Amino acid sequence: MHRGRVRVAIVSFALFACSTQAPTGPGDEPGPDAAVVDPPPDVDACATPVALALVGRPLDLMPADRLAAIAARVPCIAQGAIRSIVESPRTLWYDKQSLTPGYQDSFGDNVVTPIGFRPNTIDPGLINLAVPGGHQQIFSELGIFHFPFGKPIGPGDNIEVVDFWRLPDEPGSDAYRPVVHWQRDPNSYTHRIEWMFPVGTVFGEMIFLDEGGELHPSEIRTRTRTATGWEVDALRPFPTAEDFAAAIEARRGERPEWAESPALDALITQLRGGSLSPFHVVATHFPGSFPVRNAGIEQLPELTGSDAELTHELLRTTAFRSAKGVYWKQDGALSAWAASSSGKGQIVPKGYNAAAVEISQDSCDSCHRDAGRPFETWYDNILAYGELWGNDETFTWHPFTLSKFVDAQGKVVNFNHDNREIRPDFKAAGLIEPYKPADHPASVYQRIVREWTDFRY
Ligand code: HEC
Repeated sequence: MHRGRVRVAIVSFALFACSTQAPTGPGDEPGPDAAVVDPPPDVDACATPVALALVGRPLDLMPADRLAAIAARVPCIAQGAIRSIVESPRTLWYDKQSLTPGYQDSFGDNVVTPIGFRPNTIDPGLINLAVPGGHQQIFSELGIFHFPFGKPIGPGDNIEVVDFWRLPDEPGSDAYRPVVHWQRDPNSYTHRIEWMFPVGTVFGEMIFLDEGGELHPSEIRTRTRTATGWEVDALRPFPTAEDFAAAIEARRGERPEWAESPALDALITQLRGGSLSPFHVVATHFPGSFPVRNAGIEQLPELTGSDAELTHELLRTTAFRSAKGVYWKQDGALSAWAASSSGKGQIVPKGYNAAAVEISQDSCDSCHRDAGRPFETWYDNILAYGELWGNDETFTWHPFTLSKFVDAQGKVVNFNHDNREIRPDFKAAGLIEPYKPADHPASVYQRIVREWTDFRY
């Protein structure tokens, strides 16, 4: 019994040493679920705007003007770990321009058959030369994998995503607990660089609507490394349809065109009614990667003009909070985990598919678990083309020097020899170091092992 308690305390410490979130009171035993705490109802999270730090970072990935543009559009966030992370100068921000996405090709001998890191925007010819039609099998368009069905949150074209990355701090020091990397060479044809994140690492995805030349925040998804997996959450301004209806009602008196809008009347009626239709998502490619999910979906109508100004203003002035475990709506046998939209001016992107995406480890893992998995496990004709992007269940991050593998047009650089170099600036900032089990204890560094993890070609 006593031993059990001590172990729990150590695990909690490892999880929380990283974040600025302190246990909420004496005797509180914070578990992973305590990471995001809803504020007491009387605290207005929007009274103090979220201040995304613009200076003081150990390393800037994104240009300062781009980060400032994002900082000006972040939503109100309920007090808690996620808000602290967004505000911390120790959190690094990136997008596809500042951390060019790529995947490893670990199959080869680096003499006759090249190995290395490839941008997702690889020239289709370089794949099709060896595997005719191979590019069309794995990519839906230049830079976007089909996995498991093209764009992971839906086909919308009014979406802008910015990512953030917070490593835990080394207790009692101003250093980070670093990412650790090592090379795996199980045979002469398999040479892969692997990495894993320390317990407490947080990745976040801030999803904006990009409409009329402005960004409007829509959702924040987070993944927090535990010893055995990734704890997940998603913060939204209106977890339920009723939340959204009530917010419109509470605000529409502020402007006559809002008060009198028939479109807003109709929207409130729809939100409060049963209006789900059947919805499915399933892998279109990478066979078997994403078994069918059946859900209900609510298509919110496109809003324009002053009606869209109200939704946009609500997105900016409503505290984002955890929507975990909360249905957007249930209607008879159908349930929707989130809203969707048939057009712009809404609170979610056009074509948003999260109605079928529960916020739970199993649900989010069904895609994330395959980061770094060899293409050959889905396509036996694509043996020689490496692995899906990412590693340690995270897609967008990698530690490689950009200029060694990609040019400004997104074309491959150094295709014919191993171009994987661990970024010197990451090393200098203490963000990554070689894995040494003696220095990197299993309480903080533990691999997540899937059935394919230690593959060899
Ligand atoms: C349909 C597959 C799929 C599902 C389901 C999914 N994701 Fe992802 N996720 C992705 C892909 C692909 C990316 C890279 C997106 C991009 O291009 O920026 C990603 C990126 C992310 C990132 C940025 C860090 C990273 O791994 O690159 C976070 C954070 C994230 N997702 C959280 C979640 C959460 C939380 C859930 C569950 C509510 C979830 N995801 C469900 C496919 C998925």
